[in-house]
Amino acid sequence: MSTAQGIAAERVAELRRQLDYHNHRYYVLDDPEISDAEYDALLNELRDLEAGHPELLTADSPTQRVGAEPLDKFEQVRHLQPMLSLANARNEEELKAWVLRSERYLARQGVELGDVRFVTEPKIDGLAISLVYQNGLLVRGATRGNGEIGEDVTQNLRTIRAIPLRVEGAPPLLEVRGEVYIPLSAFARLNEERAAAGEPTYANPRNTAAGSIRQLDPQLAASRPLSIWCYGVGAVDGLEFDTHHEWLDWLRDHGFKVSREVGLHDTVDEVVAACKAWEERRDRLDFEIDGVVVKVDDLDLQRQLGVVGREPRGAIAWKFAPTTATTTLKQVLWNVGRTGHMVPAAVLEPVQVSGVTVKLATLHNEQDLRRKDVREGDEVIVMRAGDVIPQVISPTAKAQRAKDRGPVPEPPERCPACGTPTIKPDDGVWTICPNRTGCPGQVFQAVKHFVGAMDIDGLGEENVRRFLSEGLIESFADLYDLTVDRLTALDGFGEVSASNLVRSIEESKRQPFHLVLYALGIKGIGFVNARNLARRFRSMDALLAASESDLTDVEGMGEIMARTVHETLSEERTRALIERLRGYGLRMEEEGAAPPAEGPLAGKTLVLTGTLPNLTREEATRRIEAAGGKVTASVSKRTDYLVAGEDPGSKYTKAQELGTEVLDEDGLLAMLPDEAAPAAEAPPRRR
Ligand code: IVH
Repeated sequence: MSTAQGIAAERVAELRRQLDYHNHRYYVLDDPEISDAEYDALLNELRDLEAGHPELLTADSPTQRVGAEPLDKFEQVRHLQPMLSLANARNEEELKAWVLRSERYLARQGVELGDVRFVTEPKIDGLAISLVYQNGLLVRGATRGNGEIGEDVTQNLRTIRAIPLRVEGAPPLLEVRGEVYIPLSAFARLNEERAAAGEPTYANPRNTAAGSIRQLDPQLAASRPLSIWCYGVGAVDGLEFDTHHEWLDWLRDHGFKVSREVGLHDTVDEVVAACKAWEERRDRLDFEIDGVVVKVDDLDLQRQLGVVGREPRGAIAWKFAPTTATTTLKQVLWNVGRTGHMVPAAVLEPVQVSGVTVKLATLHNEQDLRRKDVREGDEVIVMRAGDVIPQVISPTAKAQRAKDRGPVPEPPERCPACGTPTIKPDDGVWTICPNRTGCPGQVFQAVKHFVGAMDIDGLGEENVRRFLSEGLIESFADLYDLTVDRLTALDGFGEVSASNLVRSIEESKRQPFHLVLYALGIKGIGFVNARNLARRFRSMDALLAASESDLTDVEGMGEIMARTVHETLSEERTRALIERLRGYGLRMEEEGAAPPAEGPLAGKTLVLTGTLPNLTREEATRRIEAAGGKVTASVSKRTDYLVAGEDPGSKYTKAQELGTEVLDEDGLLAMLPDEAAPAAEAPPRRR
């Protein structure tokens, strides 16, 4: 080997090591140390070196995640060990019965029971996959299929950056099992982007993840925000542990994305409490879970318990209360949405779903309606999760529907709210009402959205409708002109209710800038984009001055969405509206938005690093901000505290160099006011 070659080989190895490290920090730990631009610079340097020295190219190089040609079809592969399924426990009794059964079974085998310990893990609602590593290299990734034979989807799984292509210190054979999913925030972004581009949106993250993995062209999988949670191993040769939790620790330590919130319990009561705690937190997570998996920790006991049918006796899934029910779709009604789109709603035969009677559900949009092929008279599945609007998921049995059942309802030719003939702009897929300023339906939806986004308490749909029809307001900006006198002139408004409403409208002026931006209801600026735009531009003025290409720099903003947003922000009408709101004193700058200048952390700047044992990053940020503090990305002389969790990385070293005070989670919590149920930041719920 020439010296030049030797130097190139060394640099290639160093770049790969660095890129793997930063990839892990970003995609697995969610705690990047370098900017995207710095990462790209390293990747480009590696690409150039590999191009100049093709002999150095290897399949596990970070440059080789996407690149394979589209396939004609997927090969079938036999799993090294069958991929089983889980029995379900629907409540505490069933879970306790399972524990008793397991103990009795073990006793009959002559096993001394001693202390049986249990592990609890979130049951991720995604797509089960198997990853096979030989001598530390990812050689095969497959779907579950029928449990014995799955499909070889290696090309697509390689594009998932949370999946290591190479594992240092791995045994000769290692099969890792996990669940591929799309984070909810990324899913929302994907749909916002698609809606802005006039493309049909996806129905749910689970099917989108599964569909993405089954694409023959790996470029498609690469373009979807897929991730993975790993939860165990299959076939292994050359490494052994006594317990399941040790395996999970090993996987985590070797670069796999494994939940840090795995519980280890000595009693069944502890297990039940852990399951209930997950159920309670369920709506605040950034991924969907449909239950909790409870596993016997001791692997020897698991083996002795064996398998019955396709289900191991040593594990069970605690399933959450069903959020779906079946009922009849009586009729599809069309409304107009706040951006003029025709929106279908389902009138249902009333049905109980998770404790509430549901009569009306959303069918999202016309594309979704067509894709689901829902007809009036169909039996349909309805879902209601958390406090979001119930939705129709699909018909139960299309094949059995009567032949004379009409076609999928078409959007109306005239706007149901204002009678204006509807149009399909640019031959697109959406039918809209073009009467943007004069359509009472659009105005109503816009005010309703504004009230929800700004969290104006005590202003329900009925009153919004009334204020509009009685001419008290014509747009949401008019809300800020309401006075007690004007309200008490209306039937049904007394002094007290009127002054309460005026007060909560007044209080909404304190909402942070990103909510003001979201509340404007601009096409393409949903909650997630509003946050990202506010983070990037910090103020309305900077946002209004931004060019279309400045906008595409913002995470989640594609070109088409950037164009729509830019066009709308440039319109005279939008600008006038913004100026009016500014005049009323609404916040037009992100900084200073969060802190009440009081609060125990007022004036303090904190940096978060590593994984905290209990709080997610969003929760920690929100609570620090609520206590008056500011969270920034990197440690500097201006940093007051570094809050460090596990695997803290270079920010920790920097803090030590600068002598910055370091807190752990308990230290942080001690500085924060008590909060009964910390909620991760989520878009305000619709009313
Ligand atoms: S353990 C014996 N752990 O649930 C099966 N499965 O109904 C071993 N799943 O096909 C599975 N999260 O796709 C296990 N933490 C978790 C899981 C999990 C989701 C899925 C998995 C499996 C299905 C079983």
